[in-house]
Amino acid sequence: MKHVYIADAGSHEGQTVTVKGWLHNKRSSGRLWFLLVRDGTGMIQSVVSQKDVQEATFEAARTVNQESSVIMRGTVIADERAPGGYELQVEEMSVYQQAEEYPITPKEHGTAFLMDHRHLWLRSSRQRAILKIRHEIIKACRDFFDSRGFTLVDTPIFTPAACEGTTTLFETEYFGQKAFLSQSGQLYSEAAIAALGKVYCFGPTFRAEKSKTRRHLTEFWMVEPEVAWADLDDNMDLAEAFVSYIVEKVLENRGEELKQLERDTRPLERVQPPFLRISYDEAADILKQEGVSFELGNDFGGGDETVISGRFDRPVMVHRYPAAIKAFYMKRDPHDESRALGVDVLAPEGYGEIIGGGQREDDYETLRKRIDEHGLPQDAFQWYLDLRRYGSVPHSGFGLGIERTVAWICKLPHVRETIPFPRMMHRLNP
Ligand code: 4AD
Ligand code: MG
Repeated sequence: MKHVYIADAGSHEGQTVTVKGWLHNKRSSGRLWFLLVRDGTGMIQSVVSQKDVQEATFEAARTVNQESSVIMRGTVIADERAPGGYELQVEEMSVYQQAEEYPITPKEHGTAFLMDHRHLWLRSSRQRAILKIRHEIIKACRDFFDSRGFTLVDTPIFTPAACEGTTTLFETEYFGQKAFLSQSGQLYSEAAIAALGKVYCFGPTFRAEKSKTRRHLTEFWMVEPEVAWADLDDNMDLAEAFVSYIVEKVLENRGEELKQLERDTRPLERVQPPFLRISYDEAADILKQEGVSFELGNDFGGGDETVISGRFDRPVMVHRYPAAIKAFYMKRDPHDESRALGVDVLAPEGYGEIIGGGQREDDYETLRKRIDEHGLPQDAFQWYLDLRRYGSVPHSGFGLGIERTVAWICKLPHVRETIPFPRMMHRLNP
């Protein structure tokens, strides 16, 4: 009998098909069993009626446990009341593996318990919806750059030097040499633009974050475009179009999942260009007006970003941070050397930074000096300095954190649910 995925059941109405999946839930009314079966593409209510099936099938329906894997043969019937609009009238069923007593039950479980059982927790409807939206966001990232003439460049994970400061480096032994897990593919993307013009890298990045916050992981995914001959304004144009496109695609293709998460989509519908562009100094002014104590020159904390972004109904771009708190590679503002030509995009509804980027220092001598000022080893950066010796050009780029973007779009309280198997300071298992 033809194996049909539940999402396609509708096109087999009236036919006998085979469905294979997991038992999500069941209930009985005497001589009937209603089995809710899930196969990853959807959910179908399967009805086992004592008068229509052999004793073995009815017995299987009676004894099958939550999360057992099952194979059912039956007829697809349209039924408006059934979840998904179709029902399977079961003729025969077998249990491929009878599950042991499932640890996750409909009662409330604590976060630690669920995180310890993450490998099973993924099967819940809520986690499935989040993973579907994560997938949609990643696909939108690729489609956006692919359709605009960017080339994907895969950058290394083992690296000899720091990109985003030395305090969050994961160090590892590399055949008698020291290596670090990549914090960002940016420096390598900068090399690739002289070959390809517009590039992006997309991969896992690693930071030994010792902070326990709702927005920090030690392993997270970042997509990073880099563009030759682009300045800070071009970079902000790109970021604004990019974020708007991602949100548009999720609204277009993942309405069901957003509904499942009870996400109010009105704030997402407002995410369209133009985004407001304010300077660091203007952002600091907002904090002052709101009575937040903040010392000018410091970086914004998560709470500060919540207050700043709370002023706006769509993402806001904050540019020209103090150079002293930004990475060594940032170009300084020619009108004010104390400011860097960097930009952060802060997501609304309290989410804060989802993008960091800016224009890069493209002058050899200046960059050499910065590497010294930041106490970084010149040797490890020789190749990077070379890019300023052989056809240097103005260039810019940014990095968007996938998990923070998923958290915002799904409106989740914490990034731990945005990635299949989160890695945090106190979380290496499962
Ligand atoms: O602002 P960041 O550190 O910028 C860079 O790494 C640049 N090299 C990117 C570039 O210009 N090509 O990180 C970029 C984004 C942040 O805005 C945030 O969304 C995410 O990466 N991010 C994290 N996400 C989860 N957990 C962490 N520990 C993160 N650190 C940064
Ligand atoms: Mg940043």
